[in-house]
Amino acid sequence: MNPTHTVDGAHTIHAADTASVRDRFREVLAHFGSGVVVITSQDASGAPVGMTVGSFTSISMEPPLVGFFAGHTSSTLPSVVANGTFCANVLSEDQHRLARTFARSGADKFAGVDWSAAANGSPRLHGAHAWIECTIDEHRPIGDHELVVGRVDALGIPAASEPLIFHRSLFHGLRAHR
Ligand SMILES: Cc1cc2nc3c(=O)[nH]c(=O)nc-3n(C[C@H](O)[C@H](O)[C@H](O)COP(=O)(O)O)c2cc1C
Repeated sequence: MNPTHTVDGAHTIHAADTASVRDRFREVLAHFGSGVVVITSQDASGAPVGMTVGSFTSISMEPPLVGFFAGHTSSTLPSVVANGTFCANVLSEDQHRLARTFARSGADKFAGVDWSAAANGSPRLHGAHAWIECTIDEHRPIGDHELVVGRVDALGIPAASEPLIFHRSLFHGLRAHR
């Protein structure tokens, strides 16, 4: 079978064509829009750490579990895992610059950022759309990422705001369809 064929003018790439899958993976998956979350925690010295993720998801209601996937090269991941707790800050629409700041490895990400410590010590970013405080329930490698599952300790909606959406490498607001 020809590994690449055309359906309605769109190219379909099959798993057997591994080079093409590698090339097109990011581009195709970028068509899956997501919310934007900054995972915060503390390093061994108590300093705040954080990283932007689009892979945050709710997992279970009973018990209440959420999770995210962090790349093995992330410098934040070891601190989150060692600390054992984190805060998932769901970003609001006007926090798109924060999303870029927390996506830059090695930068002083908290410079000029307003935050206060959650009960578990992890930073709650002021102006967030929602926050979820967690204790790590389990974590394990999957492919080139680590799945981190958190048991929800506390959660809240600080103030009414609109959510930030990431789609095809750009930040957007939400448009409701009823
Ligand atoms: C919108 C957006 C979503 C992202 N989602 C993820 C993700 O789910 N997992 C991940 O490991 N990196 C994700 N990244 C990239 C990380 O934020 C980036 O690799 C960051 O440098 C990690 O910082 P660190 O090395 O200081 O931990 C995302 C970046 C952006 C802008």
